[in-house]
Amino acid sequence: MSNYHIKHLEEYYQVYRKSVREPEHFWEEIAEEHFLWRKKWDNVLSWDFTKPEVKWFEGAKLNITENCIDRHLATRGDKTAIIFEPNNPKEAAVHISYKALYHRVNKFANVLKSQGVKKGDRVCIYLPMIPELAVSVLACARIGAIHSVVFAGFSASALATRINDSDCKLVITSDGSYRGAKTIDLKGIVDDALNECENVSTVLVAKRINSNVKMKAGRDQWLQPLLDEASNQLKAEVMDAEDPLFILYTSGSTGTPKGMVHTTAGYMVYAAYTFKNVFQYREKDVYWCTADIGWITGHSYIIYGPLCNGATTIMFEGVPSYPDFGRFWEIIEKHKVNQFYTAPTAIRALAKEGVEHLEKHDLSSIKVLGTVGEPINEEAWHWYDDNVGKRKSPIVDTWWQTETGGIMITPIAYATPTKPTYATLPFIGIQPALMDEHGKEIKGNQVDGRLCIKYPWPSMARTIWGNHQRYKDTYFSAYKNKYFTGDGALRDEVGYYRITGRVDDVIIVSGHNLGTAPIEDAINEHPAVAESAIVGFPHDIKGNALYGYVTLKETGESRDQNNLRKEINQLITDQIGPIAKLDKIQFTNGLPKTRSGKIMRRILRKIASNESNNLGDISTLLNPECVQEIIDNVL
Ligand code: PRX
Repeated sequence: MSNYHIKHLEEYYQVYRKSVREPEHFWEEIAEEHFLWRKKWDNVLSWDFTKPEVKWFEGAKLNITENCIDRHLATRGDKTAIIFEPNNPKEAAVHISYKALYHRVNKFANVLKSQGVKKGDRVCIYLPMIPELAVSVLACARIGAIHSVVFAGFSASALATRINDSDCKLVITSDGSYRGAKTIDLKGIVDDALNECENVSTVLVAKRINSNVKMKAGRDQWLQPLLDEASNQLKAEVMDAEDPLFILYTSGSTGTPKGMVHTTAGYMVYAAYTFKNVFQYREKDVYWCTADIGWITGHSYIIYGPLCNGATTIMFEGVPSYPDFGRFWEIIEKHKVNQFYTAPTAIRALAKEGVEHLEKHDLSSIKVLGTVGEPINEEAWHWYDDNVGKRKSPIVDTWWQTETGGIMITPIAYATPTKPTYATLPFIGIQPALMDEHGKEIKGNQVDGRLCIKYPWPSMARTIWGNHQRYKDTYFSAYKNKYFTGDGALRDEVGYYRITGRVDDVIIVSGHNLGTAPIEDAINEHPAVAESAIVGFPHDIKGNALYGYVTLKETGESRDQNNLRKEINQLITDQIGPIAKLDKIQFTNGLPKTRSGKIMRRILRKIASNESNNLGDISTLLNPECVQEIIDNVL
């Protein structure tokens, strides 16, 4: 018997030791006993971090949707797979059974096929959190097309970059989306994006808000009539273990977004195994992750991980503040949610509203609470524990990344004793290392360093779409033979990890990864701007907010600075999306630079964070005089 379900701390340690001592044997057992294969593998793992190349379950044949859907039909056909909870609480929730999901996915897959989509083709999905989003993801996987979901809060320009980077020929979108009291014209955004995307020949449009959208003849088609016509039967495509399953873009500190490529078998095994154990999911439980499927959390822990385990998973279309700040609690009560997984930024926003919204609802169904996306501060952790979990539901603070595909450092609910702000212990099979600045591993406890992983795990991204060299440079060059995460971490006296934050130029705002370079590029497009630098500064709710230092080409009082600020934020909104807008913009006469001309963000970060009394030695700067001016005018 393999160790598919871990229940105690001793069991964790025992299974962990086994997973490190004999990783191949360990993962082989898990894969063999808990998944459906068309053909088993010839080799469990081959790897070389210098190339870098990693292959899991080579030679195996499978289709992930047969694992997510078909194999449950006999025993769970009528069980609810997905509960769709609409933006408007007055609209009825929709329960989609495994059988209904099977038919819907087959229909959608047949539509894709009829539009000429073939195995290996890339399909871009730009949809709100409606059932069509989950169904289209699974439909792609069913026919072996590679899905690239783009979060529907990204701008037309950001969408176009992503469509072109992976050369998608087909885009799936909707007429619009609901977001609280607002509607958003998604189809209009797609139309704008496609002005820059020559290769897109087909757009499938789901109806959600019934708005009057323009349909371009020969390119745009309403989805529903095509679905109505399509057969609900389809044989799943047989995929190789290492065939790409999806591309998901994430920001880098420099350059264009990175299309992380995840492959089929390893990703499936790890997403499913982590889901089962971290959240201690049991057959009758109702699980809710509030993330958007446009992010990795939604891919692994709304769709693939839960469905592989035959779980009931909620998709929520709305926002925590609509119609009021009680919405999350109302949904938990309504669907009797057992596992609730959200982000620290949401917890802080809800905590700010006090407990009266909470007290109106019965949250007694909750067994496990989760957090993800950024470090959780102690205050938010306790608020969550006291008020939502009533001190009886463990909080799993799960550390992981788009690149890792699944949860890496985390408590296992009810097994690992939790500690506020600590992600605690490596998950089964994960071998972390803390590194010093000279590239040496720091052994022992009560130490801090840069977080690396020294052994492959099944769900790691295999490459960056179209740019393997960048994959190597970004993740495998800083430390020999190790995957570098870009995060700093400390290890306490018992070996628990606490993630201290990014050590590169990525800033996490409200749980969203934002690279500084693309934002600076957007600002620098403004004709009045000479130069800019973005840093993060602490923010009560967002965790970090963005502070921009901007030098203008011509100084002078003639320009209205508030107008300039608006124009700069508009440029950012157009190029990236509203999530990357700056909270503060300071106009400066110069930016502090090293003698080689590199902007000293460390100094700017301290000034923005009100730590200008602790700047260290600035005398070696090229232009130390600008520092005082910046301090004097800080916002
Ligand atoms: O800095 C870490 C932070 O989020 C980064 C990964 O972001 P992304 O690829 O968007 O994936 C987010 C969802 C998995 C990490 O490098 N991060 C994520 N989870 C945590 C975290 N920081 C601290 N604690 C966490 N639990």
